[in-house]
Amino acid sequence: MRTHRLRLAGVVAAVLVAVTAPTAQAGHRDPTLADLAQRHGRYFGSATDNPELVDEPYKAVLGSEFDQITPGNGMKWYATEPQQGVFDFTKGDEIVDFARAHHQKVRGHTLVWHSQLPGWLTGKEWTADELRAVLKNHIQTEVRHYRGKVFAWDVVNEAFNEDGTWRDTVFYRTLGPGYIADALRWARQADPKVKLYLNDYNIETVGAKSDAYYALAKELKAQGVPLDGIGLQAHLALQYGYPTSLEENLRRFAKLGLDTALTEVDIRMILPATEEKLAQQAQWYADLTDACLAVRRCVGITVWDYTDKYSWIPAFFEGQGAALPWDEQLLPKPAYFAIRDALR
Ligand code: XIL
Repeated sequence: MRTHRLRLAGVVAAVLVAVTAPTAQAGHRDPTLADLAQRHGRYFGSATDNPELVDEPYKAVLGSEFDQITPGNGMKWYATEPQQGVFDFTKGDEIVDFARAHHQKVRGHTLVWHSQLPGWLTGKEWTADELRAVLKNHIQTEVRHYRGKVFAWDVVNEAFNEDGTWRDTVFYRTLGPGYIADALRWARQADPKVKLYLNDYNIETVGAKSDAYYALAKELKAQGVPLDGIGLQAHLALQYGYPTSLEENLRRFAKLGLDTALTEVDIRMILPATEEKLAQQAQWYADLTDACLAVRRCVGITVWDYTDKYSWIPAFFEGQGAALPWDEQLLPKPAYFAIRDALR
């Protein structure tokens, strides 16, 4: 009885392997997105979030297909300093531990941002001196905690408006534009080796907003402020058109001596998803992969989670979704195969 059941289990396992890995040859598996990206000296990553780390099938793909992880929320200010001066790194640490166990590098996200701030910070009027001290302490405590554990930080997130003017945040209002240089310098003091980035959305094309980053980066470089890269979030939407000047844009930042990365890629669509829309989405994923591979200093690509099951899009953009390369059942979509082909 016992051996019978064991034998049956063996047969079931063999069938499962045959079904789930149809192209795997005896003794070796298909290369992952990470394997393929590494052949170009790039990484291919995914964001993840703490509540998802109980989903075993989800974790199996997260841990095998990618060589880079970004915490979707766990390192944000509200999570890491819920009370002034009281730090809590448990969420970020959980994700760093997962990444380490799977030999993945981690992008730190994010130190200075107008969104997802704790109530103690937003609920009070600060003098410039007070806020400067609060900002410095937050940045340096968090960067020190993750020293040697993250390879890059999104130091400042979303500093500009669409027209290239400064976003009116508590930091800008209280401290003026110099808060950016200060933040970068404080981060550098706390970790001399980590790559320091500015990160934003809608800066994939050459245009007013990316021009603002170009001008700022040039100025910061000229002043000797530590800035290593520009992160292009790349939250794209089929209905707004593909950012055709992406490669040119990556190139101009490279010429300033900066790395670039596609940091939060997803390509949403108005639901329902049709075969046609999914094919167009696949083409866009391939195109942005090509663009990154074409520019040596584009160091890698991160999708903003990999499966529609955990995408932030449906909750934030009404009637839109299906933005990621794996569907809600964790099955690869045309986009996944298009990325593979582009990386080959
Ligand atoms: C999103 C997260 O994915 C959501 O879970 C959260 O509720 C809101 O923030 N730009 C960023 C990310 O830089 O931090 C945002 O992440 C998506 C937009």
